[in-house]
Amino acid sequence: MSDRRPIGIFDSGLGGLTVLRQIHDLLPREPLVYLGDTARVPYGSKSEKTVLKYSENNIRYLERHDVKMVVVACNTASAYVIPLLKKHSVPVIGVIEGGVEAAVKNSGGAIGVIGTEATINSKAYEFAINRKLPGAKVTSKACPLFVPLVEEGWIDSPVTRAVASEYLEMFYEKVDTLVLGCTHYPLLKKTIGQVLGTATILVDSARETALKVKEALGQYDLFTDDYMNVGSIEIVVTDSPGRSLRVAKRMLGYRKIEKIGYVDII
Ligand code: DGL
Repeated sequence: MSDRRPIGIFDSGLGGLTVLRQIHDLLPREPLVYLGDTARVPYGSKSEKTVLKYSENNIRYLERHDVKMVVVACNTASAYVIPLLKKHSVPVIGVIEGGVEAAVKNSGGAIGVIGTEATINSKAYEFAINRKLPGAKVTSKACPLFVPLVEEGWIDSPVTRAVASEYLEMFYEKVDTLVLGCTHYPLLKKTIGQVLGTATILVDSARETALKVKEALGQYDLFTDDYMNVGSIEIVVTDSPGRSLRVAKRMLGYRKIEKIGYVDII
């Protein structure tokens, strides 16, 4: 069996394009549809109830789009939604499990987690790490300023380095592995690495999630059989497609995107 329907990906905004990028790099033949909920971003400072409501909306939109799988690219949404999604019409994959598996594989038992306030408050990473590695010592910290810095394009600036030092000082020589538990943080890998030094392994959930998607496509027999073409990428947002295009270019780096569509799902 094969399936030419697209993989649906959603995020609170455009940060999830770091996940799309990894999925496209790993599975270049698969068509992708990306929904960025830019009208309601950020999710990271909102309550569980609100994040759940928005996430349900987004999943329903993607299902109407006839996707074969949904990837919840947002860490905050994954933290709240995934445990509730036992039954759905298509497989739903979050970003937490992949990141945790990689962290546990690499670590001697002292793991740091950084994310939005909501992700850290949910303790989703802590629970998942302790399920896989009982007795692990998990230290967590919300780093809310990283998201606007990345959106501003200040990836490698003295301001970002100063903010990173302030946030990450507590991890220095305390953890052997740090999970980058937010869509935007993989773009700060270099700066974070400079602050913590090479002894700390940085786990990029985006890369690990792409591997999980590949595994699930195999498990559910959903790989496309269109081996002639590069998979299409459709990006839609719930507000400001013009501004979104500028930020998206930053998130996707070298990859060319011509246009971002607008959808009203609210
Ligand atoms: N996408 C969010 C996450 O990965 C970061 C931006 C937000 O707060 O909505 O947690």
